[in-house]
Parts: sequence; structure tokens; C-alpha cells
Amino acid sequence: MKLKDLHDYDDVAENYDLYLEEMYSRGDNHAGFLDFYLDFAKEYGKDGVIDIACGTGAVLLHLAENGILADGTDLSEAMCRVADEKANAKGFRLHIFPANMTAFKSDKTYSCAIIARSGFMHLLTPELQKAALLNIRENLSDGGMLTFNTFDPHPFFQAQQMQTKDTDYSFRLEYTNQQGKRERIYNAISYDPYTQIMSGNWKFETLNDKGEVIAERVRPLRMRQTYRQEMKYLLELTGYEIVNVYGGYHKESGDGSAKNVIWCVRKK
Ligand SMILES: C[S@@+](CC[C@H](N)C(=O)[O-])C[C@H]1O[C@@H](n2cnc3c(N)ncnc32)[C@H](O)[C@@H]1O
Repeated sequence: MKLKDLHDYDDVAENYDLYLEEMYSRGDNHAGFLDFYLDFAKEYGKDGVIDIACGTGAVLLHLAENGILADGTDLSEAMCRVADEKANAKGFRLHIFPANMTAFKSDKTYSCAIIARSGFMHLLTPELQKAALLNIRENLSDGGMLTFNTFDPHPFFQAQQMQTKDTDYSFRLEYTNQQGKRERIYNAISYDPYTQIMSGNWKFETLNDKGEVIAERVRPLRMRQTYRQEMKYLLELTGYEIVNVYGGYHKESGDGSAKNVIWCVRKK
């Protein structure tokens, strides 16, 4: 039985789109991601596209609305269910299945695989990253393309997050949940430089009409940052050639100090 992560909870899956919209209206490491993935799928997806760690289907639906019917998979059954319901509501019949990216086996191969918006960072060790890259390679056709992103460890934020505990909460946002109740979200992150893991907790406070807290729930989240030197060796080891490395979804230069590194790699 694996440890529960933020995305495994039904309440997170059903509210995910609602609070993400509010969060990303305040600044976003992932601005422009939908069109980046659409272009990528148009360029490389003629023999099938799979969205790995598809979450509630943000990318799947954007692709479908633009004529590309991709398959989707996610570790969390709750996220798959929400993605499926959203696709059905829009009249798309997509194949969305729960699975771990380290082990899934699809009944077909794909010329294009997408791990959007930091899904790869949920792999917490180099061993799991290696297992996922090898497994995805098995599901790609010859010359198939994969894109995923990693965050470079950033000395300034690392230094800050090495001082905090995973209970030192900061206010993130307030939004209206699926039941129409206002909720405040706080998160706390601490960084371990030895494992490169950011460990955090997301705290959701539900408010009554007077603004008083009537319920609280805490959801854990851990993500691993990866030095790009490690990633280059990992890709070589797992049989990929690097085609492009971008520093943002508008294809900004990937050298220098870009924080969000977007990898586009080809199965060798
Ligand atoms: C930050 S969300 C991104 C979701 C989606 N790609 C998007 O852009 O909205 C990360 C997702 O990765 C999934 N995930 C985490 N570990 C995974 C694994 N080992 N295999 C497959 N999915 C995983 C989580 O369940 C979650 O839905």
C-alpha cells in the first residue's frame, strides 16, 4: 500500500481545477503550457499520444478540443475519474486508465508521450525516475518523443526551505470549493538537499458564512528536484537523445538559470 499523496484524495481531485485556476491567476511557472503541449502533440503525435500523470485532464481536454484524441493515465484513481467525467461531459470518449508511470503497459505504442506540469517530479528517487523513463520508452514507437519538466534546485529557495518545517504554513489562496463553501489553502514546504526532495503539506480550511473555520484537512505532497547534469546522464542511460531543452513553455532558452526545465527527448 503506497503512502497517500495530495492527489490521491477525492476532495483534492474534485476541487483541483477550482483552486488551480485561482492559484495560477497569481503567477505561474506553467504559463502557456497547454499550447506548448498541443504544438508538441501536433508535431510528433501522428501515431498516437499519451498524457502520463494526466491529473484531471487539463491537457487531454485541450488536445481533444483541438482534434487530438489522446489516451491518459494517472496514478490516482480519483484524478482519472474526474478527467473521465470531464471528457464525457464534453462528448469525448477517451481511454483514461489508472497506472503508475513506472509500470504501465498500454495495448498500443505511441509516437508522443507527454508528462505535463511537473508530473515527473513526483518520482522521488533516481531509481524511480529511471524505471519511469525505461517503462515509457517501452510504450513509445521507434523514434517516439517524450516531453516532461523538472525544476532546477535553486540555491535561494533551497536556503529558505531548508530553514522551514513541513508545518510552517504560509497562506496561498482562498477559493470556493465544489460544495460552494469558501476554503483557505495554506502550504508548508521544507527542502532536503541530500535527497533533493521538497516535502510539504497542504492545509485546507473550510469556512462558514461568518468566515469562521469549521473544518480542516491536511494533505501531504513530496516532489523531487533534479539537477540537469543528472538528467542528462539518466536520459543517456535509459536510451533517449535530447532534442530540445527549454526554460519555459514559450520555448525560452534552457541554458543558464531557468527554474523550470522542459525536456523534449527522442527514443533512440
Ligand atoms: C501536478 S499534477 C499534474 C496533473 C496534470 N498533468 C495537469 O497538468 O493538470 C501531477 C499528477 O501526477 C500524478 N502522479 C504522481 N505520481 C505518479 C506516478 N508515479 N505515475 C503516474 N502518475 C503520477 C498525480 O496523481 C497527479 O495527478
